Amino acid sequence: MQEISVSRRADATPHAAALIEGLRDIGYSLETAISDVIDNSITAGAHRIKINTEAYSEEPYIAIIDDGDGMTEDELVAAMRPGSRNPLDTRDEPDLGRFGLGLKSASFSQCRRLTVVSRKSGQTSAAIWDLDDVAQRNEWAVQLPDGVTGIPAVEQLGPKGTLVLWQKLDRLTGGYSHNAAKRAEVINQRIAETERHLRLVFHRFMEVSKPLRILLNERLLRPLDPFARKNPATITDPRETLTLIRGDVEIQSFTLPHHKQVGKTEWDDIGGPEGHLKSQGFYLYRGKRLILHGTWFGLCRQSEITKLSRVRIDIPNSMDADWKIDVKKSSAQLPPVVRDRLKKVIERILAGSKRTYSKRGQKLVDHERLPLWHRIQADGQIRYRPNVEHPAFADFAESLPPDLRRGFFNCIALVGASLPIESLHADMAGTAEQIVPDRVDEDTLAQAVQATLSVLMGARKDIKEIMSLMKDVDPFRSAWEDTQRIIAATIETKEKE
Ligand SMILES: Nc1ncnc2c1ncn2[C@@H]1O[C@H](COP(=O)(O)OP(=O)(O)OP(=O)(O)O)[C@@H](O)[C@H]1O
Ligand SMILES: [Mg+2]
Repeated sequence: MQEISVSRRADATPHAAALIEGLRDIGYSLETAISDVIDNSITAGAHRIKINTEAYSEEPYIAIIDDGDGMTEDELVAAMRPGSRNPLDTRDEPDLGRFGLGLKSASFSQCRRLTVVSRKSGQTSAAIWDLDDVAQRNEWAVQLPDGVTGIPAVEQLGPKGTLVLWQKLDRLTGGYSHNAAKRAEVINQRIAETERHLRLVFHRFMEVSKPLRILLNERLLRPLDPFARKNPATITDPRETLTLIRGDVEIQSFTLPHHKQVGKTEWDDIGGPEGHLKSQGFYLYRGKRLILHGTWFGLCRQSEITKLSRVRIDIPNSMDADWKIDVKKSSAQLPPVVRDRLKKVIERILAGSKRTYSKRGQKLVDHERLPLWHRIQADGQIRYRPNVEHPAFADFAESLPPDLRRGFFNCIALVGASLPIESLHADMAGTAEQIVPDRVDEDTLAQAVQATLSVLMGARKDIKEIMSLMKDVDPFRSAWEDTQRIIAATIETKEKE
């Protein structure tokens, strides 16, 4: 760079009021904000973290209380400084922090008054950032109260630990700043919505032998393992390690059990409000804390084929710069070398799923005439067409006079051409497993069974083979017990004849 001489400098100290207000809007949600405060508690060695809310009072608050190491007054004042540590510093391995900002930025994203009370070696210290006070004085000066009596939730602090208290919850009123009951409803609703996020983000800390306990309004949260490792039907691939200059990246793939092998509650729990389709993909953990999930980082599409695949990636905090970890700890970017390795992981997953799928396809080809629908793939398009050669259709058509027969085939073609594709798309993207074949009544089923039976028996297939052929296709598959009964009755009648 060319040397340019500088003989004057002008003061450009940031305006406290403007900058601290700007810190509020870097994109936190209530759940990412609470998680950022919990990160600090975990780094301070806490085993019990309580989140208590007072929603109904005239001055609602959210308090997060831990039993970690706490801070002295000097440490507390340092902690309240925006940019309390240099992001370029090397941090201890279990340290979940990076920027020296989280406590402040997360808190201000939700409230205008942050009080921190901390107890260490028998000493209790307190400090307050009140944005209205900063706005008025326009200086970087944190308030140090003379005592702690009267500070809500302070009595919950144990012999050591820290209380982070959010008051003036202007971002959580839902527009009801003058309607206390409605406001309380909004706060309670928003707090309830954070539960799943916390169970997921911190599940690895909650699963170990001396576990972290998080209590949300006195209720102990259960960990939510997105890989359902306790379920014996989950398939776990071996762990791979990618050794890079600044640390190791650990990669492990899991295939969740099919929804029929999991109870409904567990299935919904691991799928979450977004559903399984949107929850597949990479789960990136930094120091065992979940940073982001439900994305393939643009390396493949979230499709039905890979719906049950989830890949765990573990990175240490020494790689923050390579992964471009953000202040909120909720986004990251793939370093190119990791991208190449993950591409291979995805190729393997796709090859595995395709094999299972084509095996199923093969099966259908074997009994060409039996499915009621044909899947026709050509010219980059996939069509579903009713199989008019199916014995149930063909047999009935045979019994019709030729002009009615044409009309019948037209009706069938019309059903095929008006398949509600868009609505199926929408349902598949949401809760595909809830789409089920319609039930057929006994009469319809009997007609289909009898027609199919007579064709198969005519082809001199033995009854065992006929049963195994029919068992795999609808409508017989989904009404198998009734089908068996009708087969038995039909054979009995035929034998009597
Ligand atoms: N609950 C707590 N117990 C003990 N010390 C804490 C607690 N919360 C914050 N601190 C101290 O305050 C400092 C500042 O916290 P802050 O969250 O602002 O930044 P950070 O954790 O260092 O980095 P990041 O911005 O990535 O979160 C921490 O480094 C820690 O020393
Ligand atoms: Mg932090």
